[in-house]
Amino acid sequence: MTDSPLPMRVPAAGLPARVRIHEVGPRDGLQNEKATVPTDVKAEFVHRLAAAGLTTVEATSFVHPKWVPQLADAEDLYPRLAGLTGPESGVRLPVLVPNIRGLDRATALGARRVAVFASATETFARRNLNRTVAESLAMFAPVVARAKEEGLHVRGYLSMCFGDPWEGQVPLAQVVRTARALADMGCDELSLGDTIGVATPGHVSALLDALAADGLGAGRLGVHFHDTYGQALANTLAALRHGVTTVDASAGGLGGCPFAKSATGNLATEDLVWMLQGLGVETGVDLDRLVATSVWMADRLGRPSPSRTVTALSHKE
Ligand code: HMG
Ligand code: MG
Repeated sequence: MTDSPLPMRVPAAGLPARVRIHEVGPRDGLQNEKATVPTDVKAEFVHRLAAAGLTTVEATSFVHPKWVPQLADAEDLYPRLAGLTGPESGVRLPVLVPNIRGLDRATALGARRVAVFASATETFARRNLNRTVAESLAMFAPVVARAKEEGLHVRGYLSMCFGDPWEGQVPLAQVVRTARALADMGCDELSLGDTIGVATPGHVSALLDALAADGLGAGRLGVHFHDTYGQALANTLAALRHGVTTVDASAGGLGGCPFAKSATGNLATEDLVWMLQGLGVETGVDLDRLVATSVWMADRLGRPSPSRTVTALSHKE
């Protein structure tokens, strides 16, 4: 591939110098594919993402294999990625663990970064975890405690922060309450999930203000936008203006959630990198290599990437 055109670099005031992209394509993306992707293809996907400069790649989930059959090969996949976590490449490979069983499976393979995943709403907690919000927090507490004892980094996802397909609008106070519970449990970082992509920038600002008022500042937060209504980039910019520097994204815009049918793909990593390059915000990502990876993955999945940037740059002749 020849070098792509790049946006003109025009920095804007009030933005961080650097953003860490938390790549979720292999987990959030592939968990939602109808076809199960062969383990070899997944391993190559993660290696290619790392080679494109992504330093945090969420690799898979140690959940119940019947609940998410697409990721049932976690035991087979994770060891194939071991070379990436060595001191030379230093890539972080977090994995999802819902309970002690998941933590045991992940740590047995050497995982050093794990994520629990709570919901701000009762309906999604039941559908995703077979538990109420309180019961799921009770399930996570010993996971986080043991992970911290063992020196692991723990991320706490919080889904349905901006709206829920069954319950509708979600009050800010309800989100803050569950975020506070995850933080008090010892999660090092929280990721605010717009699982069904309904957030708009003012809503993002309001939630970040409400969390800050509760002592949860931007330094401890990441944002996780799905792009259902085309708002993910605008929402990201709003979050960056609040000091957030960790942004979740999925190569090629893969993604969704098998337990929330109205969830479509995540913010595409390429669309994010294009915007950040224009703004002069460092990401360390090589856009050409990343686009080539998403085009390769789209071929494997038999459908084009929904990312506008992938589409534009892969048809640039
Ligand atoms: P459950 O059926 O209530 O499980 O599921 P249980 O605790 O009653 O145990 C039943 C059996 O499952 C037992 O086996 C356990 O050992 C086994 P038995 O004794 O009957 O033979 N089991 C496991 N096996 C393997 N690995 C495990 C495990 N745990 C129990 N970890 C459970 C509860 C949490 C396990 C289930 O609901 C589950 O796996 N859910 C995962 C759902 C999921 O992965 N959703 C997608 C990720 S969340 C998301 O996408 C949103 C996000 O992207 C952010 C956003 O966009 O908002 C993060
Ligand atoms: Mg998600």
